[in-house]
Amino acid sequence: MYETTSVHPLKDGSAVRIREATPKDLVDIWRIFRSVTEEKKWIPVLFVDDGEFERLSWFSHHKSVGSVILVAEIEKKVVGHCLVERDEWDAAAHVGNLGIMVNVEHRGRGVGSAMIKEAIIRAREKGFEKICLSTFNTNLSAIRLYKKHNFQIIGVRRRQFKMEEEYKDEVLMELILDN
Ligand SMILES: CC(C)(COP(=O)(O)OP(=O)(O)OC[C@H]1O[C@@H](n2cnc3c(N)ncnc32)[C@H](O)[C@@H]1OP(=O)(O)O)[C@@H](O)C(=O)NCCC(=O)NCCS
Repeated sequence: MYETTSVHPLKDGSAVRIREATPKDLVDIWRIFRSVTEEKKWIPVLFVDDGEFERLSWFSHHKSVGSVILVAEIEKKVVGHCLVERDEWDAAAHVGNLGIMVNVEHRGRGVGSAMIKEAIIRAREKGFEKICLSTFNTNLSAIRLYKKHNFQIIGVRRRQFKMEEEYKDEVLMELILDN
C-alpha cells in the first residue's frame, strides 16, 4: 500500500499536500471545475452539470473503474485536483487520460507539478501503462508542465474546438510508463 498523503515543496518554500480525494472533496472539486469553466480559456467545457447526484455518480464511477483522483491541499484548503481516468475501451484499460486544474490564485507555485508527479506514481501503482492527455495549443503553461514531466507531443488536431468564436488546436500528448 502507498501512503495516501504526500507532501511536496512549492517554489516559495511552502508545501502542498497531495492525497486521494474522498466524497467530502466533491464540493471543492466542482467549485474549481466551475471556476475554470467560467474562465472560458482552458478546457472545452461550456456548461458544468452540478448537483449532489452528479458529483457522487462521477466519484463512484471513477472509484469502481480504478481511476486516480487526487486533490492538492494548502493549509487545509483544496486548491486543485487531478484525474487519471481509466480509458473506457476494454482494450485500452491500461491507458489513463489525465485532466488537471489549479485554482487561479495558486497557479505558478508548483502545485500542478506536484500533482502530476504524484499522479504518475499512483497511476503506475494502479497498473496503468500509459497516460494520455490533450490541451489547447494556447495553454502554454500546461504544455510546459507536461513536457517537464516527460510527456511528448504526438499530434495536433487542428481547429478541434471553438471557444468564444475562436478556434483552438488540440495538442495530443502521451507518456509511456516504462518501468
Ligand atoms: C495547467 C495548470 C494545471 C498548471 O498548474 P500550476 O500549478 O500553475 O503548474 P506549475 O506551477 O507546477 O507549473 C506551471 C509552469 O508553467 C510555466 N508558465 C506559466 N505561465 C506560462 C506561460 N505563459 N508560458 C509558458 N510557461 C508558463 C511556469 O513557469 C511553470 O513552469 P516552471 O515550473 O518550469 O517554471 C494550471 O495553470 C491550471 O489549472 N490551468 C487552468 C486549467 C487547465 O488549463 N488545465 C489543463 C487543461 S489540459
